[in-house]
Amino acid sequence: MRLGELATLVEVSTVRRLGPPPEPSRRTDASARRCGILAHMTPPPIPPGEEPLIGDGVTPGIVRVGDTVRRPARPFTATIHAYLAHLRAAGFRDAPEPLGYDDQGREVLSFVPGDVPREPLPAWTAGEEVLVALARLIRRLHDAAEGWQPPPDAVWGGAPGAAVAVPSGDKALIVGHRDYCPGNVVFRDGLPAALIDFDLAKPTTRVTDIANALYYWAPLTDPVDRRPAFATLDVPRRVALFAGAYGMSTRQRQALMPAAKAMVARFHTTMRAAARTDPVHARFWEEGAKDLLPRAHAWIRDSAIEITTRLLD
Ligand SMILES: Nc1ncnc2c1ncn2[C@@H]1O[C@H](COP(=O)(O)OP(=O)(O)OP(=O)(O)O)[C@@H](O)[C@H]1O
Ligand SMILES: [Mg+2]
Repeated sequence: MRLGELATLVEVSTVRRLGPPPEPSRRTDASARRCGILAHMTPPPIPPGEEPLIGDGVTPGIVRVGDTVRRPARPFTATIHAYLAHLRAAGFRDAPEPLGYDDQGREVLSFVPGDVPREPLPAWTAGEEVLVALARLIRRLHDAAEGWQPPPDAVWGGAPGAAVAVPSGDKALIVGHRDYCPGNVVFRDGLPAALIDFDLAKPTTRVTDIANALYYWAPLTDPVDRRPAFATLDVPRRVALFAGAYGMSTRQRQALMPAAKAMVARFHTTMRAAARTDPVHARFWEEGAKDLLPRAHAWIRDSAIEITTRLLD
């Protein structure tokens, strides 16, 4: 498996991003962090006209060329391009436009203007108006995704050593983004305005996709694992705010916390399987995933009644 494919793993991404903030020397230099992963490889020279884009530092080789972004093509890229094309046709324009492939075989996407927050997240990203705007953005995405039938030969991303589970037979399924970490949200004027990095998009339910967003942004993690800006927030209030802005139904509100608990349990299972087969995952696991995810699971279990009560008030 190529290291670039790590970016397809929600389990890895989730764990890495929600762990304790990296040591300052690593945190301030994302490229050094990436070099840590790729220490045995000499980075290729950057051709003129190409500007490297480094988000969470997981996917090597992402560059900006004019108004486009070039990313390594992966087995699921054609499926994701079909999805992005559907979103646009359905009126959702706050995502990259798929523009095919370049002469190096890289995927080409439109560059989405705005700012992507970097770690450590600034305090303003914990504002309630941010949460409300994100909820409305995701609601529009979900409504646009509604009714899209993935092609029969659709390919989705997955972790090494773990099957890519695609739920089926549920009319409530939509293809959701499934990776609403801060590095995948483009802000304009201080508010979420667009989503990028659809590598983990896959059939899911609205509720589970919402749980993913809330995992990062409520957040649904043990306080000891939260970023400083998010450490002391009133999480039940924030979940209820999100639900109101999204327009969640009573049934969706009742289903949210069980879905969040199941989602975090899946992160843990998949991460453990991947750690057994892949050395990089093994390192993520040892560096914190093995403790952080059970802590999140326990916190969600213990907070579920309080949050659901607030949601149904
Ligand atoms: N279409 C786009 N428009 C604007 N900026 C983009 C776009 N795609 C990527 N970027 C920028 O490049 C960064 C890295 O891209 P991306 O999120 O796709 O990869 P990654 O963060 O390495 O992967 P992952 O999030 O899966 O770990 C983003 O945080 C963003 O700043
Ligand atoms: Mg990203």
